[in-house]
Amino acid sequence: MSGAAERLPGGPFDVVWASPGRVNLIGEHTDYNDGYVLPFALPHRTVVGARRLDGPQWTVTSEQTGETVTFGPDERIEGWAAYVAAIVWVLREAGHDVPGAALTIASDVPWGAGLSSSAALECAAMAALLDLAGQAGLPMALRPRLAQRAENEYVGAPTGIMDQSASTLCRAGHALFLDCRSLATEQVPFDLAEQGLAILVVDSKAPHAHVSGEYAARRRTCEEAAKILDVAALRDVDEAGLPAALARLDDEVMRKRVRHVVTEDQRVLDTVEALRAGDARAIGPLMTASHASMRDDYEITVPQVDTVVEAALAAGAHGSRMTGGGFGGCVLSLVDADRCDAVEAAVRGAFADAGFAPPDAFVVTPAEGTEKLSR
Ligand code: GLA
Repeated sequence: MSGAAERLPGGPFDVVWASPGRVNLIGEHTDYNDGYVLPFALPHRTVVGARRLDGPQWTVTSEQTGETVTFGPDERIEGWAAYVAAIVWVLREAGHDVPGAALTIASDVPWGAGLSSSAALECAAMAALLDLAGQAGLPMALRPRLAQRAENEYVGAPTGIMDQSASTLCRAGHALFLDCRSLATEQVPFDLAEQGLAILVVDSKAPHAHVSGEYAARRRTCEEAAKILDVAALRDVDEAGLPAALARLDDEVMRKRVRHVVTEDQRVLDTVEALRAGDARAIGPLMTASHASMRDDYEITVPQVDTVVEAALAAGAHGSRMTGGGFGGCVLSLVDADRCDAVEAAVRGAFADAGFAPPDAFVVTPAEGTEKLSR
């Protein structure tokens, strides 16, 4: 069991479920364009213990703050507990008879670092509440859409379906290749240790807020571009069709956004090909190209994350890119397993030189998605 499960206070619980945070290996801002993504689950997870209560009322207690929030069936609340209230709301909307419950939460997923702490909370709360409702058999494949709707319509963040899919469906040792239009999935083996490689995650500690207008603005521009190009979504433009598509767009900013999305979809496909062929080293240049595209065309990076990427590459990383919504958050670097410490030291040095607050760094291997714990 993870640290969070051991720290879960209170109990006994009727059920305990855990859902992980995620990093996205490649495929950024493609999900809401009906495109492709390739996330994997972190060993960091959020654990929810739940006990049935009489009456339609829910209480949520955080191990971290000791705070307890109470809400009724039709109440709109804000703050961290809103992610749980959003799940109660969406399950009731979908016709599930969600019993009143006392939920206790412990988490190892850093909040606000771009590692999908909110999706981890949503997915674990959903699993616990469905189980209490006698609906533990609701297929995992149907859950991300519900959790995304909770985030879009209750919390009010216009996100795509990647984070909730990753937190629900990822498998240990694999990356999740997801077609965000058909929702078809493939578990792509991603065992780097076999090839003497590792993924180093650096949390830039730059403030990260994708609920901000910037995320919504990017999404709007993509939707407008799809309309002008007369396609259902930018996924329908491929690299061969890109020059003609760009020629039809007058606005330079829109052209850049479209170029990012179309080339990023192709990079996901190329990454999956390389992994299927067992050549993880080949994904390095794709990661670095993805970062350049996010920096120059999608314009969602900040100096801290660019500094991590530059320092990691200079110290010998095979590839490096920001992961997640952007404007801060974390950077993934593909490194030789025996170079992790050297790359981390180089990044720390570059941060000190630039006067940035010290980053966090850790090595990750792909972990399991949502699962029931016995406790
Ligand atoms: C955030 C959103 C996701 C996705 C990424 C960018 O994490 O929640 O839906 O759009 O940004 O790839």
